[in-house]
Amino acid sequence: MVLQAIKYSRGQLQILDQLKLPHSEEYDHIYSSTDAWHAIKEMRTRGAPAIAIVAALALAVELVNMKLSPIAEEVKVFILEKLDYLVTSRPTAVNLADAARKLKSTAEEAANKEGSDGEDVREAYVAAAQKMLVDDVSDNENIGRHGADWIVKNTEAGKKGQVSMLTHCNTGSLATAGYGTALGVIRSLHSSGALKHAFCSETRPYNQGSRLTAFELVHDQIPATLITDSMAAALLQLKGSSENIAGIVVGADRVAANGDTANKIGTYSLAILAKHHGVKFLVAAPRTTIDLETKSGKEIVIEERPGKEVTLIKGPRHDGVTLDLGVVETVSIAANGIAVWNPAFDVTPAELIDGIITEVGVVEKDSDGVFHLDGLFKADGVRDAPSTVGGI
Ligand code: MRU
Repeated sequence: MVLQAIKYSRGQLQILDQLKLPHSEEYDHIYSSTDAWHAIKEMRTRGAPAIAIVAALALAVELVNMKLSPIAEEVKVFILEKLDYLVTSRPTAVNLADAARKLKSTAEEAANKEGSDGEDVREAYVAAAQKMLVDDVSDNENIGRHGADWIVKNTEAGKKGQVSMLTHCNTGSLATAGYGTALGVIRSLHSSGALKHAFCSETRPYNQGSRLTAFELVHDQIPATLITDSMAAALLQLKGSSENIAGIVVGADRVAANGDTANKIGTYSLAILAKHHGVKFLVAAPRTTIDLETKSGKEIVIEERPGKEVTLIKGPRHDGVTLDLGVVETVSIAANGIAVWNPAFDVTPAELIDGIITEVGVVEKDSDGVFHLDGLFKADGVRDAPSTVGGI
């Protein structure tokens, strides 16, 4: 069965509550943009593409179920205000702001059309939001294909036949409309028989790796092993040994114009480790995650989350032998009174990144070590672009 984090049909939206995973699969109904704002803020839904799609669809559901004004301008203003509100839920991932910008111009264009009414504006909005859901899945499948091809062609282990990869956080079906970005690359390697083994890091403090990525890997029966974040260096020392670790592949919340990439906290340290051990470090993201308006990583706002996400851990009771799903407990794992710093993301400098895998190909740096990401947006025919842009 395919994992589905977002269930949508016209007028109805449900999200898989990711705070309850991996032990319990429960869906929450989302009826409005306010419901979506809270679901995003509380991390019941998360991952840059998923956040954008849930926000877009929640407003579509609200518009379909509400008593609609017949006046196009009024419906447009309602949509614009709700989109501005949704964007305030989490600051770092650019996909939500990008989706809001595109949906706003859809609503504006529809409202400006001669003779349009409220229903026309709503229908234009709903169609555009639904298209985002469909496009994200096909974009992810293409990211998976391009990334897997690149890894097989550009790594020693790949040329010999099979690779092992390390990934961080959760970038799979749970973080997107389906298939995933970095985890999509691992899925693609697996389905073509090129994956030897996947490693996923726990991803403290929110444990997206141990709770969500591990859940997806087990679900898809991909050979995989969980490590804590502090074990990554030791794992990479195995490169060239029987494990054939070819590289690290991660997702992104915002890629700046120069290639600096904001992603889950801990990504930057993995990039440094990759450099030291001479393994590839790849970022996998749809073009909606690339923000040419942000010139470098210095401009990216990093979300800081409550300290209790570091000092407390929540989960079902385990007595050492049996898991009791009926009793969910919160356990303190830090000294009372300690100050806590909890940035949700960090920025990996472009110099540490070997390639950015998108739905239209893998971008490498030119001979001066510079990414030219604007080339990804130039022509419509870009979907047919060669799988390697620039670089080698
Ligand atoms: O705080 P989260 O769980 O929303 O962070 C998610 C990540 O950092 C992902 O790597 C990123 O959003 C890409 S998901 C395809």
